[in-house]
Amino acid sequence: MRQYRIAVLVGSLRRESFNRKLATALALLGPADFAFKQVQIGDLPLYNQDDDEHPVEAVQRLKAELADAQGLLFVTAEYNRSLPGVLKNAIDHASRPYGQSAWAGKPAGVMGASVGAVGTSMAQQHLRNVLAYLDVPTLGQPEAFIHAKKGLFDEAGHLGDSARTFLQTWMDRYVAWVKWHVA
Ligand SMILES: Cc1cc2nc3c(=O)[nH]c(=O)nc-3n(C[C@H](O)[C@H](O)[C@H](O)COP(=O)(O)O)c2cc1C
Repeated sequence: MRQYRIAVLVGSLRRESFNRKLATALALLGPADFAFKQVQIGDLPLYNQDDDEHPVEAVQRLKAELADAQGLLFVTAEYNRSLPGVLKNAIDHASRPYGQSAWAGKPAGVMGASVGAVGTSMAQQHLRNVLAYLDVPTLGQPEAFIHAKKGLFDEAGHLGDSARTFLQTWMDRYVAWVKWHVA
């Protein structure tokens, strides 16, 4: 059976991040032939074009992990109505040097959780703009703007019933769409 490796990028470094918990819970909804791996972006330096020819180990690692993946999953917080800088920094790093982007052609799911009821819609839209430029196709529907409220997770970090039902639908659609792209 073919295996699909998915690189997961979490747009938050917060220790108790809802988005990291969501990314972790989401991975459990995937089928056996999908392996989700959260890639580390918190140790990347601030992007500086001067370093393109001599990327530090953390940048090389990020690009290698992306190259090894068949698909992408972005689970992001929203900061001031856009994507957090730490995520944009990682995107910029892996897009360079010019002509050697690690992103092009990899199908991506986009979602996010916020304490605000309409939270992450703007962050996701900004992220989709960036990804479109980088030639990363994104799953359009269903959209997933997850409200981080009581009941989203139980004590053990498992998804509550209502979120799980919706996110299983999302995951099933994502899996079919990634397979269609990779085929
Ligand atoms: C700098 C900053 C800006 C924020 N801006 C927004 C925002 O524009 N929209 C929103 O819904 N929540 C905003 N929030 C609240 C986040 O939704 C909340 O901190 C959330 O827990 C972040 O996700 P995380 O738990 O994965 O870290 C902001 C939080 C911070 C720290």
